Amino acid sequence: MPLIGASETAIAFGVSLALYLLVAGPVLAVCFYAIARKPSDATERAVADVERFIELRERARTELAASGSLDRFIELKDEARRHLWQPASERAHPERRSSKPETPPVSQIMRPARLRVATNRTVRKGEPMRVFVAGAAGAIGQRLVPQLVASGHHVVATTRSPEKLERLRALGAEPVVMDGLNALEIGEAVARAEPDAIIHQMTALAGMSDLRRFDRGFAVTNELRTKGTDHLLCAAEAAGVRRFLAQSYTGWPNIRDGGPVKTEDDPLDPHPPKQQSQTLEAIRFLERAVLAAPLEALVLRYGNFYGPGASEQMLDVVRKRKLPIVGAGGGIWSWIHIDDAAAATVAALEQGAPGIYNIVDDEPAPVSEWLPYLADAVGAKPPRRVPVWLGRLAAGEVAVSWMTRIRGSSNAKAKRELGWQPKWSSWRDGFRQALTDDGTAAPSRSPERPAA
Ligand SMILES: NC(=O)c1ccc[n+]([C@@H]2O[C@H](COP(=O)([O-])OP(=O)(O)OC[C@H]3O[C@@H](n4cnc5c(N)ncnc54)[C@H](OP(=O)(O)O)[C@@H]3O)[C@@H](O)[C@H]2O)c1
Repeated sequence: MPLIGASETAIAFGVSLALYLLVAGPVLAVCFYAIARKPSDATERAVADVERFIELRERARTELAASGSLDRFIELKDEARRHLWQPASERAHPERRSSKPETPPVSQIMRPARLRVATNRTVRKGEPMRVFVAGAAGAIGQRLVPQLVASGHHVVATTRSPEKLERLRALGAEPVVMDGLNALEIGEAVARAEPDAIIHQMTALAGMSDLRRFDRGFAVTNELRTKGTDHLLCAAEAAGVRRFLAQSYTGWPNIRDGGPVKTEDDPLDPHPPKQQSQTLEAIRFLERAVLAAPLEALVLRYGNFYGPGASEQMLDVVRKRKLPIVGAGGGIWSWIHIDDAAAATVAALEQGAPGIYNIVDDEPAPVSEWLPYLADAVGAKPPRRVPVWLGRLAAGEVAVSWMTRIRGSSNAKAKRELGWQPKWSSWRDGFRQALTDDGTAAPSRSPERPAA
């Protein structure tokens, strides 16, 4: 005789199944979600299709010049944008396209400009300009706006937050609320501003800390660098904007072979750590899309910012001795004081020829030099040292690459062509005297600070 009958077996089976589903269900759901998830990140799609996108935009321009047909121009530009921002499956089967397209048609973005593809206004050298700063409330924007105003320009400054409007007004700008991922808002804001120049300073890096998930931390920034750039360029063309400057970055994107210091002509890293691959592709997209646009286009590759509003988070880590030197600390970094970056931007706006410029100081330096120096400047104990294997285990591949392999950047072109010279030509003086607005090294709050 069986110890348990059929009904007891069924109950036991049912209980086991329920327990199994309770435990395994969420795990399975997460796995299914990860597998079935379509590539939601616009960056992936943008990167894959950038060649075709630029080609279609070129055709739109050529056909407009040849035929003067604005309708055809808009049609081709819409096709380009669809190509870039719609999943391949939707492009192949337009009937499946959702009724609310993610990317509004070009004609809508251009509507505020009354569908004119304006001829660029001529601004004579030295004349004040109307300058539209997209992302004006961030670390660089807050230092840039007053310098632009002091140089006589009229600045229209954007933020997403109504609470920041007064702050921007106090800097001397005409403030505007605008979301950098909303094409219609951008079209509207640019058309109303009627700017001679746009400066794209939109990033979303506040609070970025986890280097192991680098691309994830940069996801919104990457969207701003791809989608946001595309929207701004589209609006710029519609409103007849003459000059366009965009923030890029130099440092880890440099190729990690050969000499320690790279120029604008050196290639970007063909094999970045995989955690940074999407971010590098977004940088590539931004630079190519901007330089291919029918404007006077300049890309400013800023080095690592430091100074008021730009380095507090890093200083905190240094004070707490949470930034060790990994291996020999041979990774080369290029720094730039935030006010020097702003001054270079004004110089580029006023007199830069189209192209790419590294905006860095005169002294690219290995981690083994600048990090102990910075610790000393802020009154912290010297950084710890850890072997590469431990650095990799604790902080991942990106951190090891930054500490041991990355290359620095040369500012020769910017100094030669922009008539610009960084006030803080070396991070050595900058770290000692200009980390805060009162001209001193930031006071240490670390409990580990050695007695004076
Ligand atoms: N080269 C470098 O080393 C470098 C470059 C950039 C940033 N950083 C560092 O990153 C940290 C954070 O940078 P941050 O203070 O400039 O802040 P952030 O969060 O990167 O914001 C920068 C600007 O972009 C705007 N923005 C963000 N998302 C937007 C969106 N969806 N649409 C429109 N505008 C948008 C912000 O405007 P809202 O007013 O709407 O927030 C702000 O004006 C700082 O420590 C900074 O030094 C370093």
